[in-house]
Amino acid sequence: MNILAPSMLSIDFGNIERDLNEVYNAGANTIHVDIMDGAFVPNISFGPPVLKYVRKILPDAFLDVHMMVQEPSRYFKHMAEAGADNITFHYEATTDVDRDISLIREMGLRVGMSIKPATPVSVLAPYIDKLDQILIMSVEPGFGGQSFMPEAFDRLREARRMAEPYGVDVEVDGGIYLDNVRDILDAGANMIVTGSAVFKGNITDNVKSFLSILNEKM
Ligand code: DX5
Ligand code: ZN
Repeated sequence: MNILAPSMLSIDFGNIERDLNEVYNAGANTIHVDIMDGAFVPNISFGPPVLKYVRKILPDAFLDVHMMVQEPSRYFKHMAEAGADNITFHYEATTDVDRDISLIREMGLRVGMSIKPATPVSVLAPYIDKLDQILIMSVEPGFGGQSFMPEAFDRLREARRMAEPYGVDVEVDGGIYLDNVRDILDAGANMIVTGSAVFKGNITDNVKSFLSILNEKM
């Protein structure tokens, strides 16, 4: 199934409640929540209190938490308590992948692992049967509004080949717009994260346009 996951990094923070409701009511049931610590990435976003607020606004949404945090296991419990449905951590940020997968699993959440653009896709292989989703970054993590890196197409094809036998979702994040999303789906992604292309301009129109492309490709 193809899933649209709008990233609230690009939301109008003066109108979180209004804009989250608009995204949800337009048909996007998954919200991608970017947690940045200013150490793993050069930017700081927000933490569990904001996640908790999102959960309060959208009790039934699927909250897809993308942790761009050094040694992320320090915060897994906080994310779970704040309402995460999925926790994706970075391969490059942890000292113990197996431990982190188990910790998230034991809390009853879905587990994702992500790689930055310079990390070989093959590092995911030893863990693929223990994951629910893998997240291929198509920009350097840290900021919204960057351009999609074309190398990501081959990386998505490789990720799809690896994930397919295990029914693992292939998520992609960064620089995705209406004019490149078809090619990105064709390369093998089925979870599309998009910040600027949803939250800038007319949110309802943006979500509906993305969903019509995602649904035609199913
Ligand atoms: C970047 C974040 C993304 C970001 C995507 O580090 O992980 O989720 O919000 O933003 P756009 O879609 O604007 O590239
Ligand atoms: Zn993200």
